[in-house]
Amino acid sequence: MRRLLSLLAALASPFFASAAGPGTGPAFEEAPFGKLPDGSAVTRYTLVNKNGVRVSVMTYGGTVTHFEAPDKAGKFADIVLGFDDLKGYLDASPYFGCITGRVANRIANAKFKLDGKEYTVTGGNPHALHGGAKGFDKRLWKAEASMTADGPSVKMTYTSKDGEEGFPGNLATTVTYTLQSDNGLRIDYLATTDKATVVNLTNHSYFNLAGHSGGEILGHTLQLVADQYTPGDATMIPTGKIAPVAGTPFDFTKPTVIGTRLKEAGGDPVGYDLNFVHGTKNAASAKLVATVTEPKSGRVLEVLTTEPGVQFYTGNFLGKEVGKGGTAYKQYHAFCLEAQHFPDSPNRPEFPTTTLKPGEEYRQTTIYRVSAK
Ligand code: BGC
Repeated sequence: MRRLLSLLAALASPFFASAAGPGTGPAFEEAPFGKLPDGSAVTRYTLVNKNGVRVSVMTYGGTVTHFEAPDKAGKFADIVLGFDDLKGYLDASPYFGCITGRVANRIANAKFKLDGKEYTVTGGNPHALHGGAKGFDKRLWKAEASMTADGPSVKMTYTSKDGEEGFPGNLATTVTYTLQSDNGLRIDYLATTDKATVVNLTNHSYFNLAGHSGGEILGHTLQLVADQYTPGDATMIPTGKIAPVAGTPFDFTKPTVIGTRLKEAGGDPVGYDLNFVHGTKNAASAKLVATVTEPKSGRVLEVLTTEPGVQFYTGNFLGKEVGKGGTAYKQYHAFCLEAQHFPDSPNRPEFPTTTLKPGEEYRQTTIYRVSAK
């Protein structure tokens, strides 16, 4: 059945043909995507829904490599930044599309205490970022694709060993990507541990709703369901305050063009790179937290999540990357909306907890849903 579905999909639409369109799905495809230096094979899965939307995810880093979606005229474009081949991701990817973990975002000075014991995370500079020197984004995940009632789906699993990158406990992690018929890419995360540990997983897709080669995203409009944020110091570690966005350049409670107050947002390099608080603490189901609109194409991205925070990042550090089709990705050529627990949570008992104990389940669901108007 699985082979047949793949075969039908392959016959109906050549891999990544720009002629993608309604009538090709739902289906999934599976294809090799190169080898790691140790010879392990990387596989890429492409999920296709009935509207012709196509999302590709590879087993290295559980990375979303393509997200092809129509504009208001029905014209498809790939709306995530990435590379044409595995080498691009291995050489120097700024976390394009990957799963970040075991703890996404920053841990101050790469140290935290849990049950009275201090742990040091690898790769601190001086803070740990996105799970240490070799986080979940640089791991080979096992994967299995299937057709589910909600759409084509690929389930990725990875077990992070006790002590890996300095974190305690064997952490069994499952991340399932499902492409729904409403053009929502749903990501369900599940993790369990055999020792108390800390967990904060997210997806790090860089979006440009004009298409990955569409240039600056400063003309996109953003609305966030967030009347608070976690101010940070000059090194982006939260001060511990939860402050109102009202009267600041971080107020996106009404739809606002991203570039309007970007300079006032400050930072080095200048731009947005901040965690917003939307109060969906322990929400049982994913709630709408962000809506981004690109005026020319009419594409709209909605982000729904069960997580209490979302990091809004405007690609401030981009500049050196040459991506898909030889595209030079420059500063502000993409934005990320990383649904997550707050930065430095392992050191902040006042923030929603990232501690996971044996017998408990870490679960989070985030949906990136695209439409056009
Ligand atoms: C962080 C940025 C960082 C980027 C790396 C984001 O999640 O907030 O500060 O540069 O990831 O690509």
